Amino acid sequence: MSVHRVGIIGSGAIAAAHVRGYRKAGAEIVALCDVDADRLAARCSEWEVPRGDADAADLLGDPQISAVSICTPNATHHPLTLAAAGAGKHVLCEKPVSLNLAQGEQMIEACDRSGVVFQVGHHLRSSAAATLAKEMIERGDIGVPTYLRFRQAHDWDGGGVRGVFGSREASGGGTLLDNGCHLFDLARFLGSDVRDVFARVATRKFDIEVEDTAVASLGFVSGALGHIETAWTATGWQEGFWIFGTEGSIEFDDRVDRKALLRRWRSESTMSWGVTEVDTHPLGGLDPHSRHVANFLAAIEGTRDVICTGRDGLEAVRLVLASYESADRGTPIVL
Ligand SMILES: NC(=O)c1ccc[n+]([C@@H]2O[C@H](COP(=O)([O-])OP(=O)(O)OC[C@H]3O[C@@H](n4cnc5c(N)ncnc54)[C@H](O)[C@@H]3O)[C@@H](O)[C@H]2O)c1
Repeated sequence: MSVHRVGIIGSGAIAAAHVRGYRKAGAEIVALCDVDADRLAARCSEWEVPRGDADAADLLGDPQISAVSICTPNATHHPLTLAAAGAGKHVLCEKPVSLNLAQGEQMIEACDRSGVVFQVGHHLRSSAAATLAKEMIERGDIGVPTYLRFRQAHDWDGGGVRGVFGSREASGGGTLLDNGCHLFDLARFLGSDVRDVFARVATRKFDIEVEDTAVASLGFVSGALGHIETAWTATGWQEGFWIFGTEGSIEFDDRVDRKALLRRWRSESTMSWGVTEVDTHPLGGLDPHSRHVANFLAAIEGTRDVICTGRDGLEAVRLVLASYESADRGTPIVL
């Protein structure tokens, strides 16, 4: 396979993770694009990318570039994906894939029509923890899943809500959308499709237009129950999932140990209430974002299926929107 030549649209925080992933995979980053001229110049220099384009149309018009990452604010994912697909570029679009379902459908259709790979940036699917957990669940290591809990929470490094994330127009929602879309996607990946949601949202700390604290209760099609917890009002960063089954449980909590997954089970019924058997599974290899970029390149090469399709991204948005409706109405929403 020849070297992948890629472009990155948006050169802010998450673009750094894409740059790292492409470099680790041996891809060549031909150009960056950003509407902020100062940031673009600084990033081209810092990341040693030879060209910076102020307009995405210029980057997309470059025939050398076969694939792009879209790392811009949420409201721009739709127009930029349509433009990239129209230019015949494979697309790795950051999450949430779109602000609404109609936009997401158009993005999927545009990529299908052009025959390009369309992957959404729910990188947790590619993480070593989720990969191993999925293998364990599918092998029946914890029996039948009964309750699945997911948490992603932080406090913006102790600073305020960054950039456009507090704006409803630019971002479409708060922590439930921003962090929650990852967790809804992971819930579908490790559990099953979701049958209903019952959510609550609150703005407790920041003077912003969107929620900074949220919780959603899930009923899975499989019959299992679950919860997602998201917050910008935590103390420091925490990401984890806890999957409980009839024969054991899986625990991943990056605050306890981001390099290990635990499995608990009972070898005999006479063990005491608080004591279980426990295995520690080390998690090695690349960071989740780099693994996600590598999976995108492998899908382009045809050596693996797209790990998180446009349809998966859309389902995450559907669950977020249903959760907002649930929180507004104060009732569960059946999907
Ligand atoms: N997968 C993840 O874990 C993860 C983490 C953080 C952010 N994100 C997502 O990535 C996206 C960007 O987030 P961020 O934290 O990097 O934001 P950011 O504000 O740090 O960077 C966004 C950049 O896009 C530029 N931009 C805005 N509109 C543009 C346009 N039309 N064309 C070119 N450049 C444009 C801005 O000037 C800015 O430099 C968001 O959708 C966010 O939800 C994903």
